[in-house]
Formats: sequence, C-alpha cells, structure tokens
Amino acid sequence: MIWTVILLVHALLLYFILTDRSRSKKEPPLDKGLIPWLGHALEFGKDASKFLNRMKMKHGDIFTVRAAGRYVTVLLDPHSYDAVINDSESLDFTRYAQVLMERIFNLRLSHHQMAKAKVVMKKHFMGMNLATLNSTMDRHLQALLKAEMPPNQKDWKEEGLFDFSYRLLFKAGYLTLFGAEQNNNSTDPSSVYEGYKTFDGLLTKMARGTLKSEERRTAQSLRQRLWELLAPAGLTEDSVSSHWLYAYRRLLKEEGADEETQKRAVLMQLWATQGNVGPAAFWLLGYLLTNSKALMAVKREFSQISQMETSETPVFDSALEESLRLTAAPFITREVVREKTLHMADGQEYLLRKGDRVCLFPFNSPQMDPEIYHEPQKYKYNRFLNKDGSVKKSFYKGGKQLKYYTMPWGAGTNGCVGKQFAINTIRQFVYKVLTNYDVELCDPNAQMPGVNAGRYGFGMLQPEGDLLVRFKLRKTH
Ligand code: HEM
Repeated sequence: MIWTVILLVHALLLYFILTDRSRSKKEPPLDKGLIPWLGHALEFGKDASKFLNRMKMKHGDIFTVRAAGRYVTVLLDPHSYDAVINDSESLDFTRYAQVLMERIFNLRLSHHQMAKAKVVMKKHFMGMNLATLNSTMDRHLQALLKAEMPPNQKDWKEEGLFDFSYRLLFKAGYLTLFGAEQNNNSTDPSSVYEGYKTFDGLLTKMARGTLKSEERRTAQSLRQRLWELLAPAGLTEDSVSSHWLYAYRRLLKEEGADEETQKRAVLMQLWATQGNVGPAAFWLLGYLLTNSKALMAVKREFSQISQMETSETPVFDSALEESLRLTAAPFITREVVREKTLHMADGQEYLLRKGDRVCLFPFNSPQMDPEIYHEPQKYKYNRFLNKDGSVKKSFYKGGKQLKYYTMPWGAGTNGCVGKQFAINTIRQFVYKVLTNYDVELCDPNAQMPGVNAGRYGFGMLQPEGDLLVRFKLRKTH
C-alpha cells in the first residue's frame, strides 16, 4: 500500500515536471498559479471578470494563465483584437466550440458540418426570411402577453422581472423557431421551458467539467428529456418559420449525421437561439424601471412612432446598447493550431504557442474600461447618442479611436447570426410591455440585482436573485 502511494506521488511529480513550462522571452508574461495542473482554474471560474482584472493589474494587457492543465493567453487590449479575430489560419474557432458541444450537449459535429450549418443559419436569420420571423415572433409575443394578463384582470400582478422576461421570450422564441403553426402537435412550450431552465442552471458546470455526480445524473436526464421533447421539431417543412430548422436537419443528414446526432444538435440550437434574448430583455427593462429619466425618454420615443417595424428608434437603440455593454460577457476563444507571432497595436510582439488557447474578454475592455467610458458601472441610457440625437460611434482609448467599443455579439465571421432578429424581438417585447401595461417596481427604491459571477464568459449575464415588479393592463386599451 505504502509503495503504491509513494509510486503514485513520484509519477505525479514526474508528470508535473515534464509538463511544467517556463516562459521564453518572446512569450507573454506567464502566471501558472500555485496549484499544480489546476493553476488558476478555481478563481477564473468563480468570477472571471475580477480574476482577469487582477491579472491585468499585475501583467498588463496580455498574459498567459494556467487553468486546469491548459494554458490560456488572455488579450485585453481592444485595439489589438483584430490580430486574433481576423486570423482563422493560425487561430481556430471550431476546436474549442467542439469541446463545449461535447461537454454540454454530448454532441459531436465535424468541422465541415459546422461550417455548412453556419451557412444555412446565416441564410435564414440574416436574409429575406427575417421579416417573416419577425412577424411570427410578434404574433406569439402578443398572444403570450395576453394569456399572462387577460383583459378582464383588474388587479396588479406581481412577478420577478427576470422570470417573466425569460419565460415569455423563451416561449415566444420556441414557438417561432421550433414549434409549428397552430393545429400541429408541437410540444407544449411550458414543459420545454421548465426543462431548459434547469439545464441552463447547470450549463457553466457542464462547460467546465465540474458537475458533481448527482448533478451529472440530473444533467443527463434533462438532456434526454429535452432531446425527446424537441424530437419532432424541424422534421417537416410545414410552417414558414421553421424552414430554417428543416433545412438545418436536412443538411446534417446529408452530411452523414444520424437521427440521434440531429436531436442533440437541435438542443444546441435551442440554447444558441433562446439562451440570451430573455436575459437581455430583463436587464434592459430592469435598467429602465430603475432609471426614471431613461424610462421616460424611451416611452416618449415609443409614443411618437406609428409603425414599429419600419420606424427608427435611436433612443431605444442606445438604451439597449448601454444595457448590453453592462451585461453581455462572452469570451471569444480560439485555439492556436500553428505557432503565431501576435502583433499588438502598441508595436509589441508576442509568440503564441501551438496547443494553447487565446481568449478575448471584451466585457473587461472595452465595455467596462474606465479609460473608454466615464463611470463604467453606471447605466446611462444616452451614452450611445450624440448631442444632436444621432448614433454615437466614436469612442477612444489612449487617444486613438476604437473599432470595437462594445462587443455583445462577438465579432468577425463567428459573430452572432441572430443579432438583428434578437434586437427586433427585444424591441417588440419592450414596446408591448411599456405601451400596453402599467409596470412599476414593487419597492420604488429597489436597485438592480447583482450578477451571478460564475456566468462570466457564457454570453448574457444572469442576475443573482430577481427584481420584483407589478403589471396591470393599461386603462386606455
Ligand atoms: C441578446 C441576444 C443575443 C446575444 C447577446 C447573442 C450573442 C452571441 C455571441 C456573442 C455569439 C458568438 C459566440 C462565439 O463566438 O462563440 C453568438 C453566436 C450565435 N448566435 Fe447569438 N446572441 C443572441 C441572440 C441570438 C438569437 C436570437 C439567435 C437566433 C435566432 C442567435 C443565433 C446564434 C447562432 C446560431 C450563433 C452561432 C454562430 C456560429 O456558428 O458561429 N443568437 N451569439
């Protein structure tokens, strides 16, 4: 027994010595952390924003950290982001996405299948079909809101705003993109939502591979349930709005994916298309309700427009951009597949090692960077408006104008394909809620809830707790 332990300890020591590495002069500062192999993984996962700010104070705008056996080079200078975003030769998007797909959805798709799928998604979400999707979404939103607050209900209805926004937008999005038109046996959106919400709660642990055994079982049974619930989605081409899903499944089939793989891929698409809109709408409505000037400005703009679809809404757009600046926190991650010299905007050069990962975190900079935004923690609805009311696009860091001053949608060829549809949806939702209902905070002095710090890096942030509000149908309607 003692010999086994001694042997094991020696084997581990040998492993650490062999896999340990030191920094060469040409490479970014290296910070391995104190714990062998694990490195900074715990601190990174607990609150990535805080951890990366600490590292930035220590090392500057570029550094390499060790986390769970991997070396990740973090770049925080937005002037240099293009050096990563535009190099798809040395820096590969797909590999890390494949790791996440496998961990979260038990799904394996090839590089080729993913590239082809993206073309289909772009065609459906960015092109001609967008107008159809918008009007279908509008119809579902209208019906769901009506069901939530029937015209004969005279009293206030109290709700957590996050719960309300996520539930409503998820159901509307599900019906628009995964359900079929009426008279069809698509699965009840409430049961999909319930399963999805619990699955979403385990998402960050799945991605990091830190589920406890009980949680692993829960995740697996939720996956199974959601696969079954989603199984009929996109099998037939009988509704205009689910054309995209039909095309997506057909493509996977042509590319050799069996039924099982298709089902798993459909759950991944449910996450990609529904996971961010509800939380984004929550933050925006929450910031408006806790900032009376902002609320008044947006309501005034809404009252002046006649046709929502065709009208321009610069005040609303700025209010949304500002809300996303404070709460959209995706990582942009690439794998170094070929050694690369990274040229920083300030003239410095750093060598990136093959096999490492590179990660941009636009939330810390540009979005929350005090050099770019005065009082970055504060919600200022008109931050993205010029004095004359036009859209403000010029922001500066170090005296130089920024190309990327906020990046909620990612960037480059791997940016969000649903951006325009998402913006339209949030706009419709906020418009309907603010113009058809009286909405107010239950506690007039309530503040916005804090964020769940474990979700930095996974798209839209989610609150810790909720903001209690009450609704009532407007008398004028
Ligand atoms: C506020 C809402 C949304 C936000 C903040 C958001 C953000 C993002 C971001 C940051 C990415 C890039 C991920 C990466 O680099 O790995 C992404 C990808 C994606 N988004 Fe969105 N998204 C939103 C809503 C939507 C909607 C409504 C749809 C579809 C209807 C959608 C479809 C997609 C798809 C399919 C991808 C993957 C693109 C690829 O294959 O590379 N998103 N989104």
